[in-house]
Amino acid sequence: MADVIAIDGPSASGKGTVASRVAEAFGMDYLDSGALYRLTALYAQRQGAAWSDGTAVAVLAANLPAEFADGKILLDGEDVGAEIRSEAVGMGASEVARHPEVRTALLQRQRDFQTASGLVADGRDMGSVVFPDAVLKIFLTASAQIRAQRRAAQLGLPCEGAAFERILSDIEARDEADRCREAAPLKQLPDALLLDTSDMGIEEAVKKVIDWYEQ
Ligand code: C5P
Repeated sequence: MADVIAIDGPSASGKGTVASRVAEAFGMDYLDSGALYRLTALYAQRQGAAWSDGTAVAVLAANLPAEFADGKILLDGEDVGAEIRSEAVGMGASEVARHPEVRTALLQRQRDFQTASGLVADGRDMGSVVFPDAVLKIFLTASAQIRAQRRAAQLGLPCEGAAFERILSDIEARDEADRCREAAPLKQLPDALLLDTSDMGIEEAVKKVIDWYEQ
């Protein structure tokens, strides 16, 4: 099997942008595993299953009618790329991701992204559970304050005031939920390289990962 580069880290750390740019640089495929958890949360909501009901959500996750095609993310044929990025769906993703049976239901689907072209995969448990044999494991992070500022900039909001404080507290709440859960908690693995992008632009972060892989 071709190489896998696993990039794990907290929400809004920029790992998705870095991972997809690295994949492009090497002609590898890209797996946004968070999108699968977000799709599961949205699908559960649409099917009337509570995010807290692990058994029901796992059944839906195992039969998720999702497709990744031409840069689009489809659920039941509908483009939900923008909808799954909302903070509400993000919180739902975090909730469904707590259930071990949901994680198991999505496991093979994630591994199926690995082809002969190689893969860059980003998420929370890429290096620990899904691709433990990854040739390069990276823990990509930045301070919560910086992540909130980047998210605010994306949304065209100022870096102060009530809206900003809400973004920051959402990020901190999701960090805590992802770090403190029992199933695949987010943490830096002993064999992962730390990439703290608090004082680093995207270009520099991408270059760093490329350099590490080529070493
Ligand atoms: O990375 P993203 O913010 O899109 O992920 C949404 C949520 O899905 C995370 O907060 C996390 O709880 C969950 N997730 C996970 N394991 C992954 C990817 C995402 O538990 N590999």
